[in-house]
Amino acid sequence: MTDPNGLAAHLRERLADGLEDAGQLRSAAWRAAVTTVPREVFVPEFFRRSDGPQGTRWTPASPDTGSTDAWLEEVYRDETLVTQLNGDVHPGDVDGPVGGDPTSSSTLPGLVVRMLEDLDPKDGARVLEVGTGTGYSTALMCHRLGSDHITSIEYDPATATRARTAITTAGYTPRLIQGDGLQGDPEGAPYDHLIATCSVRTIPPAWLRQVTPGGTILTTLSGWLHGSGLVRLTVGEEGTAEGRFLPGTVSFMIARPHASPDLGDFSALVRQPADERPARYGRDVFRNWGQVFLAQLAAPAAQHLATRVDGGPWMAHAIDIGSGSFATLTPDHDGDGYRVRQGGPARLWDDVEAAIDAWEAAGSPPQTAFTVTVTPTEQTVRLDVPGGPSWTLPT
Ligand SMILES: C[S@@+](CC[C@H](N)C(=O)[O-])C[C@H]1O[C@@H](n2cnc3c(N)ncnc32)[C@H](O)[C@@H]1O
Repeated sequence: MTDPNGLAAHLRERLADGLEDAGQLRSAAWRAAVTTVPREVFVPEFFRRSDGPQGTRWTPASPDTGSTDAWLEEVYRDETLVTQLNGDVHPGDVDGPVGGDPTSSSTLPGLVVRMLEDLDPKDGARVLEVGTGTGYSTALMCHRLGSDHITSIEYDPATATRARTAITTAGYTPRLIQGDGLQGDPEGAPYDHLIATCSVRTIPPAWLRQVTPGGTILTTLSGWLHGSGLVRLTVGEEGTAEGRFLPGTVSFMIARPHASPDLGDFSALVRQPADERPARYGRDVFRNWGQVFLAQLAAPAAQHLATRVDGGPWMAHAIDIGSGSFATLTPDHDGDGYRVRQGGPARLWDDVEAAIDAWEAAGSPPQTAFTVTVTPTEQTVRLDVPGGPSWTLPT
């Protein structure tokens, strides 16, 4: 890509300086990658976000929709650039603002770089990336380790094609696969490291088989309540791994096969006979990073949504559509707290409150206090304090 007035090169240096100041970029080797790989090749068009009365709207942006210099400035901000909505809508497909849910993006460089530093592959290491996206992070790894050490898998065919074009244009030649990254890459295995830029509810068994014992898996564990955390696992022998959550509030879009099932018409479900009591924790649980992480561990098949009837108060629901269990939180009459109605075979909110109680009793430690242990039969997250509770991840 040409850069006649040197603006892109200057912006790359500025980005690298900013990431160093923020402590995300910590080594000369990754700095060289950031100051070399042209992000503009990977995001020739993207969606600009705006939030208003109609909810979130997405407006297409490319060099054609304004000045090239202004667009380049935007490309080199430390921000996520959304490149696909609803699985098949790209910026070139629309003329003006549209609604929709992001399904592919170029992750903010600060997070990409921080994860690469956390992964810390040494010269000669072979890395499997799950979630090629735009290919920007793939290209950074190619620069650092050499294209022949990198494989990247992208689920979405249109995204994979665009990424291949961009990676080739930037001059890199990694092994690129279009498919389900949860199955890994049996032909290319074993790998020294696996890094996922989409999140998973549970560690896919294929990853454990395809990373060499002693190697690492760096991934975000998330779920249907949108609790999330970045975890680094060291792989052991025969389908085992263990590790700990890393600092920060890291979230990624969930791997497509791990996405939540459609709730359909749940209104009859939540009107069923139920136990009712005052709730000790209310709707804020769903907005609190630490608490929603606990809630999801306690109720891993639950989904959250809010409803209101005829302009009445908002009700928050946790619904496990598979088992037919639900918990509905409604503000109590004096508006100070909540009441909870629970029905179906499980008492979801009892489990959520017990998990938060245990965490608070331990002093509400940060996510780094949680460990993950994977065996061939079970995956558990444990609060690593004496006598700390543990929860089983969904299979
Ligand atoms: C946040 S984006 C990746 C960002 C990318 N690393 C970059 O720098 O541009 C997440 C990507 O993961 C992809 N994805 C989701 N589920 C996947 C799966 N099971 N296997 C491979 N890719 C998947 C999505 O289609 C999306 O493109």
